[in-house]
Amino acid sequence: MTSVGIDAIEIHTGKLKLDLAETFAPAMDDAPEKYTKGLGLHASSFPDTYEDIVTMGANAAHRLMERKELEPDDIGRIDVATESAFDHSKPVSTYIAGCLEQVFEGDFHHANKGERKFACVAGTQSIDDAYNWIRAGRNRGRAAIVVATDTALYARDDPGESTQGAGAVAMLIDEDPDLVELSKAQGFGSADETDFLKPQQQFPSVDGKRSVNVYLARMREAMIDYQRVGGDIHPDDFRLGPFHTPFPGMVRKAAVLAYRHIIRDTDIEDALADDIGRQPRPEGFDDEEQYREALSEYTDALKETDRYQEWYDRTINPTLSISRQVGNWYTGSVHVARVSGLKALAEAGEDAVGDQLLVGSYGSGAQAEIHVETIQDGWEAELDALNIDEQLDSRYDLDFEEYEDVHDAHNYDEETAVEEFTAPDSEFVFDGWGRMGERQYRYVD
Ligand code: CAA
Repeated sequence: MTSVGIDAIEIHTGKLKLDLAETFAPAMDDAPEKYTKGLGLHASSFPDTYEDIVTMGANAAHRLMERKELEPDDIGRIDVATESAFDHSKPVSTYIAGCLEQVFEGDFHHANKGERKFACVAGTQSIDDAYNWIRAGRNRGRAAIVVATDTALYARDDPGESTQGAGAVAMLIDEDPDLVELSKAQGFGSADETDFLKPQQQFPSVDGKRSVNVYLARMREAMIDYQRVGGDIHPDDFRLGPFHTPFPGMVRKAAVLAYRHIIRDTDIEDALADDIGRQPRPEGFDDEEQYREALSEYTDALKETDRYQEWYDRTINPTLSISRQVGNWYTGSVHVARVSGLKALAEAGEDAVGDQLLVGSYGSGAQAEIHVETIQDGWEAELDALNIDEQLDSRYDLDFEEYEDVHDAHNYDEETAVEEFTAPDSEFVFDGWGRMGERQYRYVD
């Protein structure tokens, strides 16, 4: 076996858009800069009334299969990662397979299907499962489809309302991939945390400020764990660092801590020492609080250095461009970050074959995972095939009252009859309820 990784990716965004600076901020009596500068977000994607996690996931998977000229028999596994599931027993992957069987000859009766749950890290965990299945030689030459799909809606007036989003990412995991090869080495940071959860409820209970700190703590643990198997990391080893992006400001916070960690005891720390000193070490302090203060001062100074800024602009900033326009897609978010970064390299005409990505996934509750990906020969053709720009440009721009209606339309506790805002075209749509309360779907030509 040569290598295993991601052979192809397709993205499907919810077809509605909420402009955060122009529409949401004034209605919330906030400065637009809170969104554009503080959180780093310009807009959120929302599902139209006929869209949900199944339609978005099935539409992404349909395009993926058509583009790669695949038949159901070529697929041995369909896993869906989501934290927006509406059924505690029947997995979303069965609904998606049912949709795909409406448009392809044949069926997925011999494909293993499941649903993965661990908040936003479940998409990466599903890739892991597919990787292990292929590496174990149990795939009979077939590939796996992983779909990360979410409607990341928060209760109205929850602070999380600023970071909402909806969309799906479908990925084909296969041998000898066209896009990226996955590293065998992985690092984990995992702990029982109560920062973001949905105990029998549609919208999350969130301790927002704490969730930010938990993200940083688990990511740090995962990085240390990765280094145990993958060896020391140097900032110049990686062309891109796609991280889970609930909002770009979160990644801005994480990036400087990651950079501080990986430059310790390197030529970069030495080169910066004349300007900002060396990093404080715990053994240099009798008092923990003084050490923390010194570390925080060093981090603030580090953030302002040209060296750090250049690294951030080259390695992290390109991964945030789609997220700025769509908000948080939970399980899909880190996979959107990967696409954003690779898209920027393709648009710049870079020869990136063999370059590496340091990928940081995260799920509340909480677990972070770090691994490395290597860009493969076919990457440019894969990026050229994406139509994400057209999708983003054709979203319907909601005014605030329409946003309120759309939020209600997707709220299980509200009885509403909201008209659709866009006309479905060559896609799967929600088509009402079946006799056992199941959701039903139809393909619209
Ligand atoms: N100009 C510039 N910046 C401004 C500003 C202005 N006029 N007004 C505010 N800001 C800045 C703030 O300083 C802040 O930035 P810093 O944190 O760097 O200081 C930023 O804008 C946001 O402002 P607030 O902190 O006041 O915003 P908030 O109280 O509304 O809460 C939040 C922000 C906690 C992230 C909230 O949106 C939330 O709870 N989100 C959901 C939870 C979440 O996404 N957590 C992330 C980690 S958990 C995870 O990653 C899993 C997941 O996907 C959910």
